[in-house]
Amino acid sequence: MVEANTYVVFGATGNLSLTKLMPAFYHLEAVGRLPEGLRIVAIGRRNWQQTDWQAEVEKYIEPIARGGIDHKIFATFADRMDYVQIDISQSDAYAVLAETLTDKKYSPNIAFYLSLGPDLFSQVTSELKQHGLLEESKGWRRVVLEKPFGYDAESAAALQNKISQALSEEQTYRIDHYLGKGMVQNVMVFRFANALMEPLWNRNTIDHIQITHAEDKCVGTRAGYYDHSGALRDMIQSHLLQLLALVAMEPPASMDAESLRDEKVKLLKSIRPIQKKQVKGQAYRAQYTDGIVHGNRVHSYLDEPGVAKDSVTETYAALKLYIDNWRWEGVPFYIQTGKNMKQSKTLVSICFKHPPKQFFRDSQVKKMEPNWIVFGIQPNESIKIEMIAKQPGLEIKTEQISLDAAMKYDENSKIDAYEELLLDVIKGDRSLFLRFDEVKAAWDVVDPVLTEWASQTDYIDTYCSGSWGPEGSQKLFEHSDQKWRTYINPHCAE
Ligand code: BG6
Repeated sequence: MVEANTYVVFGATGNLSLTKLMPAFYHLEAVGRLPEGLRIVAIGRRNWQQTDWQAEVEKYIEPIARGGIDHKIFATFADRMDYVQIDISQSDAYAVLAETLTDKKYSPNIAFYLSLGPDLFSQVTSELKQHGLLEESKGWRRVVLEKPFGYDAESAAALQNKISQALSEEQTYRIDHYLGKGMVQNVMVFRFANALMEPLWNRNTIDHIQITHAEDKCVGTRAGYYDHSGALRDMIQSHLLQLLALVAMEPPASMDAESLRDEKVKLLKSIRPIQKKQVKGQAYRAQYTDGIVHGNRVHSYLDEPGVAKDSVTETYAALKLYIDNWRWEGVPFYIQTGKNMKQSKTLVSICFKHPPKQFFRDSQVKKMEPNWIVFGIQPNESIKIEMIAKQPGLEIKTEQISLDAAMKYDENSKIDAYEELLLDVIKGDRSLFLRFDEVKAAWDVVDPVLTEWASQTDYIDTYCSGSWGPEGSQKLFEHSDQKWRTYINPHCAE
């Protein structure tokens, strides 16, 4: 039984809250998963009445509600919502909040969700502490911190130092919404629930592993944040290194939060540091120019409102990484991510080595494809295994066949990553949240590249919007027959 609690959302009127958090709460309401007595307190600076806030939330939920918005359910959901107008940069605002939360309608189990920039984390947590809001004598108190956690390893450590003066680790929920995605969790289940896989999952059979995250969207209204971040910080340091950790880590002793996170940290720490002189060979960056995405002409990154005209911020980043442990020695891991690409999709592709001896060399050796396992993380959730078999007929001719498992869900059983994570906070389950040592280890991986790129301010390669990214990133591959795999089904390759 999940306890009643109060969710206090800082930055409630911001984009993340309106497009992800509030819809996630609504969908949980629709399937009856919100505990009785749960209330959602939105913190905002705007001079809004309760009804303005409810109308704003409804406006965002209406177009994306699964199966269409149900106004009766929305009305029940809206009854849980309160809007509190305060300016969080002012200390006395927290006294107002503390006073508000003494109302009997609020459960003393409180989760503070900081949907804010990381520069505000330490101030807000310190104010919460000073006003007694993190004190747990009457109920639990938890703080959810959105990414990015810091700007590099040093700022992340400084931030950790500050927030740890207000919060215990048990109260800290550093969110990475990728860990709430069903198919990301499925990578782990596929590996550890199938005895078939484990003997194959290593350098003896695997040639290389690729992770591709492509988006067909531009930076939109987030240029202010993005132009100081870039693709490497925005996607690779967090989501894609987490995905890599799940693909490559050792089996944990159990699925409890600490065992799982111990294994991820161990893996992240085993990634071979990229030395300054290796950055050129192991990292690639580029920026989108104008082009055509899904038939629509779009402008270049430099023409986005809020982007500096001489910006060399990367909207595409790719890395080649090596993991220095027994399982993965010598196996390259290629990761790429980009905005304004041809299509939105996230894939993990495992390419196997050719068999040591090619028996069917006379007829087909040149055409023989390696085996692949491809996880479609999004938008279509699937697992595909490609193998070679004999073609029907008198002669021995080979062809590629595949085992396809498309995870088919009806519209209503799909869940968004945030739905699971919001419930986990209430349950006190931190296994899908990040520990600081994980965050730090991930910054250590990308920091040398960030430093090197920051020193090169006069040039960045470009790629056409609507393409699969810059040609130049191909040079990261070790062999000429390796290339980015951006499709699940070969006949859909574009
Ligand atoms: C966010 C990044 O963390 O993840 C965004 O800041 C990115 O730039 C988003 O678009 C991608 O998430 P998803 O769930 O849409 O793949």
